[in-house]
Amino acid sequence: MVKLEDIQRLCLTRGIIYPTAEIYGGLSGTFDYGPVGVLIKRKFIEYWRDFFVKSMDCIVEVDGATILPEKVLIASGHVESFVDPITQCEKCKSIYRADNFIEERTGKFVEGKSTKELTEIIVQEKLSCPNCKGKLSEVKMFNLMFKTFAGPTGEQIAYLRPESAQNIFTSFERVFRSSRAKLPFGIAQHGHAFRNEISARQFVIRSREFNQIEIEMFFDPENDDFEEFQSIANKEIILVTREAQLKKTDAVRIKIKDAVNKKIIPNKWMGFFLAKEFEFFKSLGIPESALRFRHMLPEETPHYSGGNFDLEIKFDFGWKETVGNAYRTDHDLKNHSKFSGEDLAVSLPDGRKILPHVVEPSFGLERILYAILLYNFVEDKERGWNWLRLPPKIAPYIAGVYPLVNKDGINEKAKEIFKTLKKNFDVLFDDAGSIGKRYARADEIGIPFGITIDYQTLEDDTVTIRDRDSTKQERIKISEIESFIKNKLIL
Ligand code: GAP
Repeated sequence: MVKLEDIQRLCLTRGIIYPTAEIYGGLSGTFDYGPVGVLIKRKFIEYWRDFFVKSMDCIVEVDGATILPEKVLIASGHVESFVDPITQCEKCKSIYRADNFIEERTGKFVEGKSTKELTEIIVQEKLSCPNCKGKLSEVKMFNLMFKTFAGPTGEQIAYLRPESAQNIFTSFERVFRSSRAKLPFGIAQHGHAFRNEISARQFVIRSREFNQIEIEMFFDPENDDFEEFQSIANKEIILVTREAQLKKTDAVRIKIKDAVNKKIIPNKWMGFFLAKEFEFFKSLGIPESALRFRHMLPEETPHYSGGNFDLEIKFDFGWKETVGNAYRTDHDLKNHSKFSGEDLAVSLPDGRKILPHVVEPSFGLERILYAILLYNFVEDKERGWNWLRLPPKIAPYIAGVYPLVNKDGINEKAKEIFKTLKKNFDVLFDDAGSIGKRYARADEIGIPFGITIDYQTLEDDTVTIRDRDSTKQERIKISEIESFIKNKLIL
């Protein structure tokens, strides 16, 4: 299988994603998107919007600030509970995340254990610093939020948001009213989130600044029916049930309606999003065998939750949560009502006044992009270079435009075609090196089509179009290029 190093090398050499402030040695866990990366990221977000937002009439979008006042995060519980346990080597001062460290070294499952229990395990198991064999300290809790101060006096404490979700809850009332909304009603948002991870690692998989794409779907818990459910009711997903985890048996393939009827999935909205996610990831080239939902065990689930289902993807290093799906009940609105003093309840047509319940799918963009690169990376000995089989909709450029030679007016004709296409599409102009090298460079970043302008173009206004996947070429008229591209932009 393709490895993290292959993807990392591709990202660095082709300007997709690279460390922030690299010339100064970088800042661990932070990355910049380069010219190719930014296009893939943007197109991915657009595709996500098409799939999850524009296909629904009841979901709107917001774009909230990334810096939040302390009160918000006290109400949400992050100031008190957004913590990870750490232990420090008393000799070399290296710091480890205690639960991961113990699990990696002993194979014991320690999720939910207290700092005292974790310290005891370190002592009992005689665990020492892997760096210098030094003694490890007592386990303490470390808050993962980046704290800062607004204004010159330093009195107003603020935090960089650890999840994009909180802006949605704090602006719920305004958005609900200004949209003249009725339940069910969804608010979607994409943007940056910040976590001071103890050990940022595995390239972008655990970063300190990353992008989340979230929907908070607000609904009446006494009536979770909605029209669109029928479109996915018979769809199947792969689910690792709680029972399967306890008995160490295989994941099951289950119809959404059956999982909802048996109350394995707590409501129709959760079922809807799980089904949509399964389809979404498959359409991006990630095979079913690398996708599963895991019903989180009670000890991994927050006390207020009505059930959490992680979409896990099989990466080269193992399964990893990539989308968190949580039934947050009315926990957030209840707390924000209490702490802000604002009544966030909504009135229903039947006269009831309720705090809506919430199902939240929360996508981590960097993990998804990594998975897309991993599963679309083609090692091709025959072709002589590796290439990306990116679906056209999320390819950075839909086509490359290549003059066969730089003389006899061919370059000028190619520029003219390029400029026209550029008005409507992301296209790349490349006139450097042999045509074979240009195809190779384009394939490596997943450009689906290559348009070559040659001597015949000057005679009859036709070009060749090379298909990245088959490498086959066909000749079409210049006037047909745009409609050719438009047809291919459907995934
Ligand atoms: N609002 C819910 C929430 O934030 P989460 O499970 O903590 O839930 C959602 O995060 C997603 O964000 C994860 O499934 C993952 O893809 C991504 N994510 C979380 N921490 C991350 C990190 N340090 N680096 C990159 N992605 C991260």
